[in-house]
Amino acid sequence: MLSGKRILIIITGSIAAYKSLELIRLLVKAGASVEGLLTRGGAAFVTPLSVETLTGKPSHGKLWEKRSYEMNHIELSRRSDLIVIAPATAGIIGKMANGLGDDLASSVLLARNKPVLLAPGMNTEMWENAAFRRNLAQIQQDGATIVPPQEDTLACGETGIGKMAEPQTILAAIEAHFRSSQRLADKKAIVTAGGTIERIDSVRYLSNFSSGKQGNAIALALAQAGAQVTLVAGKVKEDPTPHPNIAIVHVESAEDMKAAVEGAMPADIFVGCAAVSDFSVSNKSDRKLKKENGLTLQFEETPDILKAVGELPSGQRPSKVIGFAAETDDLIAYAQKKLAEKNCDLIVANDVSKGQVFGQDDNKAHFVTEDRIQAFDSMPKKDVAEKIVAWLAETE
Ligand code: C5P
Repeated sequence: MLSGKRILIIITGSIAAYKSLELIRLLVKAGASVEGLLTRGGAAFVTPLSVETLTGKPSHGKLWEKRSYEMNHIELSRRSDLIVIAPATAGIIGKMANGLGDDLASSVLLARNKPVLLAPGMNTEMWENAAFRRNLAQIQQDGATIVPPQEDTLACGETGIGKMAEPQTILAAIEAHFRSSQRLADKKAIVTAGGTIERIDSVRYLSNFSSGKQGNAIALALAQAGAQVTLVAGKVKEDPTPHPNIAIVHVESAEDMKAAVEGAMPADIFVGCAAVSDFSVSNKSDRKLKKENGLTLQFEETPDILKAVGELPSGQRPSKVIGFAAETDDLIAYAQKKLAEKNCDLIVANDVSKGQVFGQDDNKAHFVTEDRIQAFDSMPKKDVAEKIVAWLAETE
């Protein structure tokens, strides 16, 4: 089940550290490639030699050790698929919650670009401490997965909650993470993002306020779910987060975007998130226009990329076609109309009447399908992207 998966296990200073050795053994047996990192506290409970013997690899510990020219704190995260902290003390959770990086473990966690799963292990009073609860809530909000501790007689002699979950339970949580995170493995997706540019002359153009943030977030969420993604990007404010599953094609006009989408076909999933200009300038000039001559622009309609994809004959049509509807009035009614007219499976509708959405980090979305309207609270665009991935996986 874990064959080929690369796991970095961080062992921090709790007596439960002895059970981490068993966890490493189970992970290796399940086919994972495991690397160990011990904090100073972790190394007080189990030795690097034990960890190295079980992983078959050198373990890590110090931020400024000889190997630091390799930029260990960045490299260790880059070359893993998942970071597991077992046991996770109140100390490491506090550092994570507050963005502190004063040793190798906390610096890796700060520099990480991979998900993290923690199995806390500590005394009951610490587990219930108000400051600790705030920190735990914060790291969960930041996306960490917690394998909760159990209630039992603790190593300190007291009875209560705080005993680290058993290695088998942590292994099951790790397997569940990989199962759910690779929901779209083997799928090919095309995502359009950003605004298009329609030239007026050699120095001027027509465009819109789209930032590309939502499209970038969707491309990343699809890639993280295992899909191979072609991101067809128009004018975007920030570059998408690099990911090995994302190939980016930069385009300018609606016409270019359509050609790039056609070039990336066939696909299983199409997400038309770009704000495509509805018109292009039919009398555009190759030279700079002079204001003395006045300006009269003539327009022609651009191709509707989403509609063209939605209406492809079966066999060529992606099995899931998703469009966006940014509206200032009658949001749901227009979304339903678009769903039918462009032959989509899902329209993600958002109200842009108060200037919300464009360029913002949050989005308040409605999912409109043939038989359902689902309204979500305002949430970060990356969470809207996750909802889309979840919808794709559910309707598989
Ligand atoms: O009709 P309207 O432009 O409001 O529809 C928005 C949806 O259609 C978005 O998903 C957008 O990416 C897509 N679209 C398109 N090509 C166009 C116009 C819109 O793909 N020319």
